[in-house]
Amino acid sequence: MNERDSEIMGQLLAAANYIPTGDIKQADVIVINTCSIREKAEQKVYSLLGRLKNLKKNKPSLIISVAGCVAQQEAERLQARMPQVDIVLGPQQIYKLPELVAKAGKRGKLQLAVDQSPNFAIPRYSPPSPAVINKKGDDIEAGQFFKKFVTIMQGCNNFCTYCVVPYTRGRETSRSPEDVIAEISHHARHGVKEVTLLGQNVNSYGVSSKGRLKYVPFPELLKQVSAIDGIKRVRFTTSHPKDLSPELIKCFAAIEKLCPHFHLPVQSGSNRILKKMNRKYTIEQYLEKADALLQMRPDIALTTDIIVGFPGEKDEDFEATLKLLEKIRFHGAFSFKYSDRPQAKSVGFDNKIDEHIKAERLRILQERQNDISLLRNKEYEGSVQLVMVEGKSKSGDGQYSGRTMSNIIVNFEAPALTPGQEVFVKITEGLLHSLRGIVA
Ligand code: 5AD
Ligand code: SF4
Repeated sequence: MNERDSEIMGQLLAAANYIPTGDIKQADVIVINTCSIREKAEQKVYSLLGRLKNLKKNKPSLIISVAGCVAQQEAERLQARMPQVDIVLGPQQIYKLPELVAKAGKRGKLQLAVDQSPNFAIPRYSPPSPAVINKKGDDIEAGQFFKKFVTIMQGCNNFCTYCVVPYTRGRETSRSPEDVIAEISHHARHGVKEVTLLGQNVNSYGVSSKGRLKYVPFPELLKQVSAIDGIKRVRFTTSHPKDLSPELIKCFAAIEKLCPHFHLPVQSGSNRILKKMNRKYTIEQYLEKADALLQMRPDIALTTDIIVGFPGEKDEDFEATLKLLEKIRFHGAFSFKYSDRPQAKSVGFDNKIDEHIKAERLRILQERQNDISLLRNKEYEGSVQLVMVEGKSKSGDGQYSGRTMSNIIVNFEAPALTPGQEVFVKITEGLLHSLRGIVA
């Protein structure tokens, strides 16, 4: 979601004649797109702003902009304590960036836009020139023109007790299917081969604020997207287990282009903790859905998110999470120590877990998951996978890098290939985070 938002802001600035630079000292405008989902992400923003203070001292014309969820939530604090910041821009307001940059340049006072009304004014017919760079100063889009993120909905109505998203990104609002299809068709005409449909909970796509179906349901949208000529791979993220419907599960057999990867955040293996998290499903229901997915598409790779150390999490709750890992054997899991987030209900919960215990649980969990991920990747050894080439591999050994349909990175030897091309690769070795192979 944030990556797509960064891309949109990059495109908007490109349209206003700004070009990306890998050298921060050269920059006239710096946009920090922020995430406040966990405390660690938020701390990083403040430490970066601290470092930028000096840069601004030496170059007073520099425009520093803080966008995204931290901007939304911390607008007052930023305004009061971070005088180096010129623009504060909530996630629903990113489209105003060029206008605010122009104003900030002229007036020199803080420009604030944190209104939460949803806005899908996405620059669909954006300039093809890439305008987003990553931390290393590389162009994120270089070689990535063949795959795109497409926002299909914003916000979330679920109010999991630990989560800040419903407060920073507001309520769920879906984008019309006509708009989504038009954007993807445009991409396809410009050589895009893979799209990932984005939303906090794509399973409730199309539902109006009154709970009625306003547009087509998500499985239907998937069918329409998959029918677009030139698009070869369709992915989506994220899904809430409670809303994962039999119709969506059926899509994995019915739609050939739908990639066999499913990110299904479980958060905990303990029913007691799931209840306190307000997740609205039990582990038994989760297992049933995971099973149904595997029945429908045996080669599907399941991944998940897990929080350890939620308030009141006892040893036996944590053990239940470890048991779940062994039972499902996820291909991968993102795991986090619980942190209090402003406005989240769990801030007021009793029995907060000691930092050391959280760290220890995280370590144990990640160790277990690493063993499982490695074994999962070893299961690919000897198989032939259809791989979409992303570019030269990072190791610099002249190999190529790409992804299987199930979203696993493969580094492989091959004669000259271009990004976006699909090739069959024989897998020779499964490693922890990737596979190795040779063109079949
Ligand atoms: N503390 C720790 N992890 C969190 N996540 C969301 N909120 C918190 C929090 N307060 C994790 C969840 C979610 C992922 C995106 O971030 O696992 O699925
Ligand atoms: Fe947060 Fe829960 Fe919504 Fe996911 S479903 S964004 S965890 S409130």
